[in-house]
Amino acid sequence: RPHLKAHALDGLVMDDVPLAQIARQVGTPTWVYSAATLRRRYGTLRDALEGAGLTASVHFAAKANDSLAVLRVLGAEGAGADVVSEGELLAARAAGIPARRIVFSGVGKTEREIALALREGILQINAESAEEIERISSVADAMGLTAPVSLRINPDVDARTHAKISTGLAENKFGIPYTDAPALYARMASLPGIRPVGLAVHIGSQITEGMAGFRAAYARVAEMAQALMGRGLPVERLDCGGGLGISYRDEAPPSPAALAGAIKATLGPLGLPVMLEPGRWIAAPAGVLLASVVLQKRGANRRFVILDAAMNDLVRPAMYEAWHGILPVAPDALHAPASPADVVGPVCETGDTFARGRALPDLPPGALVAFLDAGAYGATMSSTYNARPLAAEVLVDGHRWAVTRPRQPLEALLAHQVVPDWLGTTA
Ligand code: LLP
Repeated sequence: RPHLKAHALDGLVMDDVPLAQIARQVGTPTWVYSAATLRRRYGTLRDALEGAGLTASVHFAAKANDSLAVLRVLGAEGAGADVVSEGELLAARAAGIPARRIVFSGVGKTEREIALALREGILQINAESAEEIERISSVADAMGLTAPVSLRINPDVDARTHAKISTGLAENKFGIPYTDAPALYARMASLPGIRPVGLAVHIGSQITEGMAGFRAAYARVAEMAQALMGRGLPVERLDCGGGLGISYRDEAPPSPAALAGAIKATLGPLGLPVMLEPGRWIAAPAGVLLASVVLQKRGANRRFVILDAAMNDLVRPAMYEAWHGILPVAPDALHAPASPADVVGPVCETGDTFARGRALPDLPPGALVAFLDAGAYGATMSSTYNARPLAAEVLVDGHRWAVTRPRQPLEALLAHQVVPDWLGTTA
């Protein structure tokens, strides 16, 4: 993580900005993202695709991080976006990403979302069912438009990742059964409101165990695209989805070059432009969650470090048993003697545990820690459980930094609620 360095005086520093300075001025918990890292990682992916001789476009999965500032950084580098809701589409557009670089994915697009996407002039909608194809066509037709639609196939391959984020098995809700693709693609071509533009696939997220799953999925896409073109159906481009994993702990995920090589080997012979929808690989390592120690507590036989961040902020450990690196921020803490500690939040359930038996130094009240690799599926998955406001967000760009989303004021939690008059007053 070249953007994070332990400085003898300043402690943990992101690019040129001490994290302690951000905590002092903004408070905690706070998400902090490195613009340089976002640019570098986007560039690495692009270079890998180009290096493999592919004509490719990268559409950042906004679900990983929908901060307008983050989307702006990536959009300015030329990235497109992969969105799954009206909100994400609006965020991508508000960040300045042109609609012609935006893909709309997801199994449950409403008519309103389809209409918005078409009105904006979106690059493509990835359809996931026969029912949805009819719906997209009728919405487009009623608007006097033709929707560019890609068909997401379910390749029935095992991505060998956590069951909750695996999407490419026949038993998952995603995509259309592989064998239905020819009939559905032909149906798309016959509908007035649809222009079929290609095939899409996405088999899961945090894929770290080799290229076999990717390769099997892309091989199925290649075979199907070949068959469709053989029948005279138009196929303009192929969407390879996201899923490339990162190393949170000691995983050894495939490199972008390996991914590009697998795409080249399977889809290359078709000579069509390819698309990628990465989220985690670009954004996760670019962000940390900064938190303060509320207090340290001695249990019967454990040490608990209780933070002011909780599962409502970073839910990945509670939801997926995910492991995130935790670094003390203070200059001396990095070298202080460590002993096992359970790192927990203040929320009232045992699931609110970030780490168990983690080797950490003594962390007195007020000490700062940084959760690593929190730039993807961190802030976007936050909730206000236990009436805890959404944390602040900060973007660091070299020596500059800015609050890109202020901490949610507590009043905002209450502001939009209505207590009906007929409930009367409190006794
Ligand atoms: N494209 C589609 C259609 C997707 O469903 C996803 C992620 C992506 C692209 C981006 O995948 P990535 O490159 O980030 O792996 N909340 C979970 C991850 C859920 C991923 C859902 N779909 C987590 O925190 O691990």
